[in-house]
Amino acid sequence: MSESTTHWRSFRLDQSSAETDLQRLGRSKASLDVREALSQDDTRLETLSWELPGLYVDASKQRWDGEVVEALLKLAEEAGVKHAIADQFGGDLINHTEGRAVMHMALRGQASDAYKVDGQVVMPGVLKVRGRMLNFVDMVHDAHSQGRVTDVVNIGIGGSDLGPSMACKALRNFHTGPRTHFVSNVDGAHIEAVLAGLNPATTYVVVVSKTFTTQETMANAAIAKAWLEAGGATLSEQLVAVSTNLDATQAFGVLPSQTFGFENWVGGRYSMWGPVGMCIAVAVGRANFELFLEGARDMDRHFQNKTLKNNVPVMLALLGYWNQNVMGWRSHAVIPYAEDLSRLPAYLQQADMESNGKSVGRTGERISWNSGAVVWGEPGTNSQHAFFQLLHQGTEIHPVDFVAFKAPTSGHEHMHELLLSNAIAQSEALLVGKTPAADQPHRSFEGNRPSTFFLFDALTPKELGQLIAMHEHRIFVQGVLWGIASFDQWGVELGKALANALIPEIRGVVAEGQHDPSTSKLVSLVRR
Ligand code: F6P
Repeated sequence: MSESTTHWRSFRLDQSSAETDLQRLGRSKASLDVREALSQDDTRLETLSWELPGLYVDASKQRWDGEVVEALLKLAEEAGVKHAIADQFGGDLINHTEGRAVMHMALRGQASDAYKVDGQVVMPGVLKVRGRMLNFVDMVHDAHSQGRVTDVVNIGIGGSDLGPSMACKALRNFHTGPRTHFVSNVDGAHIEAVLAGLNPATTYVVVVSKTFTTQETMANAAIAKAWLEAGGATLSEQLVAVSTNLDATQAFGVLPSQTFGFENWVGGRYSMWGPVGMCIAVAVGRANFELFLEGARDMDRHFQNKTLKNNVPVMLALLGYWNQNVMGWRSHAVIPYAEDLSRLPAYLQQADMESNGKSVGRTGERISWNSGAVVWGEPGTNSQHAFFQLLHQGTEIHPVDFVAFKAPTSGHEHMHELLLSNAIAQSEALLVGKTPAADQPHRSFEGNRPSTFFLFDALTPKELGQLIAMHEHRIFVQGVLWGIASFDQWGVELGKALANALIPEIRGVVAEGQHDPSTSKLVSLVRR
């Protein structure tokens, strides 16, 4: 660990002079009229927007300005963001509560990348598994072209589901392999519905679980395995596992040749770049999967090398802090104007809220500032006919991320013009608002409501990789500013333990345990 690291690791917002300055600035900027600022300051758009290959990010409609950016950059300096980035890429154990490095970037790396963990180079191991994985994908594609494999089912939950299922859907136009399906929920209705339409003779099942102990995944995997067996499938070929727990995959009956491992320096919600992304690679094929990795790697280089001011993930993190901790806007809507990207909000909910939904700081004390914005959203234009009413006229402000693509994702080009018009019009309407006739106050739109517009050239594997890596890095920097541990998820443990304890009670095989009265009543109502 380098000396510089002590600082970012012990940074606390409540001891930061930059934070004090920002709170003071916030009081004057609360009334900033962005409409006026945009019309009066002809440098505003340039200062608050960034252009990367294939991506234009416009945050000029947010309630900030050049002065705020300068103050935020001081905060980033004070918080040691540059050192935190260097330490992450240097393989330090920055996931300190689990004693692990955070090195998912290596999963999209190349042989020339010098990533190390514990002084050991990691790329040879990563490339070996990637090679095996992509050979497996080629084999599945061959079998698919001969009609021997029609479907592949991914069984996993959380990070072992959300990224791959989001990406498979997003890359619909690049599908060249068998159909992919996802089963995650422990509600048996999920697997029942998915398997109902499939033929066990031509279906592969990929069980994806970092730990290979997750209740939901193991319950679904047992059903899927029995379904394959009952259907006369060749388990030695059709059952595949992805995990860090190779003893457990073997005990479950998956051959080592059908098992793809990864290291514990990859967090579940950051894992789709490696074998956890098996179904993405199955869906789009080797070359497109490699482009997906390349897009993410380009963003890694951008994040590592750009100055803070020109660093899109860093500036988005600072904006998120500004909106949440200074402006006091606690939630944040993500609206993909692409039906294929409809699972982006769900994916980001885990990436963001499981990473930064923390109330204990890195120094071990309860933090006294807000962390972890609530992330939510649905695709446009559907969401316009659902919750945009609240975004435009509700009493609270919820900043919006618009995500749109210049190129259409369907053959119906004229509809893409409608789609883009809607996306841009909504961001314009939130900004400009409307003053109605005096006798129609219900028709008034305050306007001056903040949004960021992400305009990509096209929804391709490369740009999807870029988009997701941008958020991964943005989330990390936000965690650094908030002084929290973004890469653990202890908050999900208690519920898991209590659910396991309740199973025998609900099955009626043991007496009811001691619970609070509300829980006892629920248990007695469902107990067999
Ligand atoms: O929800 C908790 C969690 O541990 C997530 O972080 C993870 O992505 C998910 O469960 C699934 O875990 P696993 O891949 O070990 O089955």
